[in-house]
Amino acid sequence: MIFENAYGIDLGNSSVKIYSALRNKSYTEKNVIAAKGREIIAVGDEAYEMLEKQPLDISVRSPMAFGIIGDLELQEILLYTFFRKINRFNMLGSSMYFSVPLDMTAVEKRAYYYVVNGRWLHQNRVFMVESPVADALSFGIDLSSNTGSMIVNIGSQSTEFSILSEGHVIMSRRSSVGGKQMNEAICSEIRKNYHLQIGTRTAKRLKLVMGQLGEPKKDARKVVGIDSVSGLPREEVISSSAVNAGIMNCINELAAEMKTFLERTPPQIAYQIAKDGICLTGGSTRLPYIDQYLTGCTGYAFNLSRYYEGSSLNGLEKIIHNRSLRTYATPIKERKL
Ligand SMILES: Nc1ncnc2c1ncn2[C@@H]1O[C@H](COP(=O)(O)OP(=O)(O)OP(=O)(O)O)[C@@H](O)[C@H]1O
Ligand SMILES: [Mg+2]
Repeated sequence: MIFENAYGIDLGNSSVKIYSALRNKSYTEKNVIAAKGREIIAVGDEAYEMLEKQPLDISVRSPMAFGIIGDLELQEILLYTFFRKINRFNMLGSSMYFSVPLDMTAVEKRAYYYVVNGRWLHQNRVFMVESPVADALSFGIDLSSNTGSMIVNIGSQSTEFSILSEGHVIMSRRSSVGGKQMNEAICSEIRKNYHLQIGTRTAKRLKLVMGQLGEPKKDARKVVGIDSVSGLPREEVISSSAVNAGIMNCINELAAEMKTFLERTPPQIAYQIAKDGICLTGGSTRLPYIDQYLTGCTGYAFNLSRYYEGSSLNGLEKIIHNRSLRTYATPIKERKL
């Protein structure tokens, strides 16, 4: 039983995920803030609803940029409002376990400390867990005795490839292809084939309903967009093949990067990975048949995570509940920064 108030936090580009040990429950909220100058209008899911529909004087954006905290103050406000929803009372003196990207600079690490020790949130202890380590724990990999495993996390704005051996990340690479780039690729595919400009939110909706990487299926959806020639709005029926062509462009790019990454891997480790399969996680792996498609491109087998975007959080949950795994969490002290 835990008596400390511990939280696991995964700050993603698209959403913030929090696990509360006290309530033994996970929460998700979009990582966006709507502001008018310095005045905050809406936070989280509510702000996301305003995206692409907001008036000119309101900006809707994410405080994170490419996996690092871009705007510390906004991120703290967002976390504070989110925490207030989970636990209305005491937010003092909790332990915060963050899953963080690899190779951060001292300044970026400091941001993680101050995001929960600032104006609104105080006196919290901060621990960092490298996100591939958290993912690996969620896959149930025994880190102390494994020769080699590869984790691929396809998120919203980036994909992280990492190789772990005996509890350490020995190689890693971040590619800037993720769910958002897939949405953009769908937009450009539709512009090419239908001479129609659609918004990225519409593209995302098309991806969620028709995106798949298996056998081509006949499917179509009606969307509204702006005609590229006349500049007037019109309706068009979009076929699933255009949507999937956009998605495949991105996945092919990822597969090519994955292959070069694997070629650099030491042979014994690559052999172990080929035997065990590559662990695949992140929200974008919800695309049906993505594992089979990647096997076709790379020749390696893939294991899909049961938790998708929640796998890092699940790893943090294991660390919070299991003291022997605490060695993977590095405490961050203010004076050391
Ligand atoms: N069913 C689905 N099919 C395809 N993509 C999906 C599906 N569900 C969610 N996604 C995509 O998953 C992405 C979110 O994934 P995730 O929550 O892992 O990202 P994140 O952790 O916020 O971002 P990052 O890891 O890049 O910081 C979004 O881009 C979303 O479009
Ligand atoms: Mg993520």
